[in-house]
Amino acid sequence: MLNVLIYAVLGFILVMLTVITYQFNSIHKLSENSTVDYKNKLGLSQGFVYTAIVLIILMLVAFSWLLVKGTPWEGHLMEWLNIIVRLMHITFGIAWIGASFYFVFLENALNRTDNVREELAGNLWAVHGGGFYYLEKYKVAPKTIPKNLHWFKYEAYFTWISGFSLLFVVYYFNAKAMLIDTNVLSMGSATAITIGVGSFAVAWLLYDLLCKSPLIKKPILFTVIGFLLAVGFAFFYSHVFSARAAYIHFGAMLGSLMVGNVFFVIIPSQKAMVKAAQLGEPLDPALGKKSLARSLHNNYFTLPVLFVMISNHFPSTFGNAYSWAVLAAITLGTAGIKHYLNLKEKGRYNVYVLPLSVLILLAASFITAPQKNTDACATTVSFAQVNAIIIARCITCHSSRPTDDVYTAPPNGVVYDSPQDIVKLKDKIMQRVVITKTMPQNNKTNITPQERDLIRCWIEQGASIK
Ligand code: HEC
Repeated sequence: MLNVLIYAVLGFILVMLTVITYQFNSIHKLSENSTVDYKNKLGLSQGFVYTAIVLIILMLVAFSWLLVKGTPWEGHLMEWLNIIVRLMHITFGIAWIGASFYFVFLENALNRTDNVREELAGNLWAVHGGGFYYLEKYKVAPKTIPKNLHWFKYEAYFTWISGFSLLFVVYYFNAKAMLIDTNVLSMGSATAITIGVGSFAVAWLLYDLLCKSPLIKKPILFTVIGFLLAVGFAFFYSHVFSARAAYIHFGAMLGSLMVGNVFFVIIPSQKAMVKAAQLGEPLDPALGKKSLARSLHNNYFTLPVLFVMISNHFPSTFGNAYSWAVLAAITLGTAGIKHYLNLKEKGRYNVYVLPLSVLILLAASFITAPQKNTDACATTVSFAQVNAIIIARCITCHSSRPTDDVYTAPPNGVVYDSPQDIVKLKDKIMQRVVITKTMPQNNKTNITPQERDLIRCWIEQGASIK
């Protein structure tokens, strides 16, 4: 019965999607073949179609969730949601960050002196793919605004929307397991989610205030204060959320500033510039400057945000006792590397920026290196002792049939069903249980320091299963 219902709903939604995409394509064909300006009419129907698609997708998700809630398929649905939203997130993110890199490169590499017409700021020749490209940047605006003007905004918006959705899929729908670590701070799911989402708004308000203050004219001071503010957020997150969630929130916070820059500053001033140019009114040069500054900030945020996006794979970073300081160092080092690249594109070869940034990153790797535990192991630890610990503390999640309330399938496919399974993964166990102490997850099963030490001794003594 349940199966029939699921397929009926899926079938209905697929038919609806087909009808809508057909409509959508024919609207586009219409506009391509005609000389009439369909722009405005298109705007409305396009908006309608987009909204319909989004609503249908949300319906699909909600229906499917209601149908499989409490069954073994719930985890499966979540996994596929995760796959789809994550793929969307990185795809839009690549488009956005790629455009950011490209335009900052353009700005830096423009030829501003050689044979440049009076109305231009500069030009640039490039060869890519199948041919040669020639670009010109205007000082202010061309005399007439061309009909086909490409905007760069949807990459940014969709990156943020998909990222925000991913935050829900991974962290908020599962706040008890993923977001909250009672060893850090004990709180309810609703509170934790409110803090997470609220922090993005607070960060934006503070950052925007900083940008509008006279400090914006003092780049070094601005950078120092901005950086300290970011470190403050890293510190705050690491004292309210689980370590992984703290890192992700730091990245999501920076990402929100980036999209805020696009939405609240860059696009509105671009619109104002276009409008002024169309009306033949003088352009306010402050608008362009403001936008440029914000897009440059975004450019510096990119590498730190990219690190956060992959940080979950690296427990030695977020698992450190001073995870926020590690994050601060990596943020500084990666932004420094971006700074070096930007300087280089401008033809300014700075000697200190790159070595200093690399030094900071090396320092981060140095302080996160495992401490040699010199405590001698009092006795030879037997496999039976270790197995008992694994059974008590790990297999609720890591077995082929987990009994944990959240994980209905073994996380990352890691199972400890047999002695061989344990020995095979001894290095990872050392890393996660002894060195970074990031397993058991949020120490849900209350492993004790003595037990961690027994595991260490067993591995150091050769991890024998005899
Ligand atoms: C509450 C559930 C839970 C418990 C209990 C738990 N884990 Fe995990 N474990 C996870 C999750 C979720 C992941 C995947 C996410 C991650 O890597 O942090 C994971 C990942 C791992 C990994 C990394 C696998 C990889 O592919 O990199 C190792 C190793 C590991 N756990 C070992 C252990 C050991 C050893 C114990 C017991 C001392 C344990 N876990 C207890 C949930 C749990």
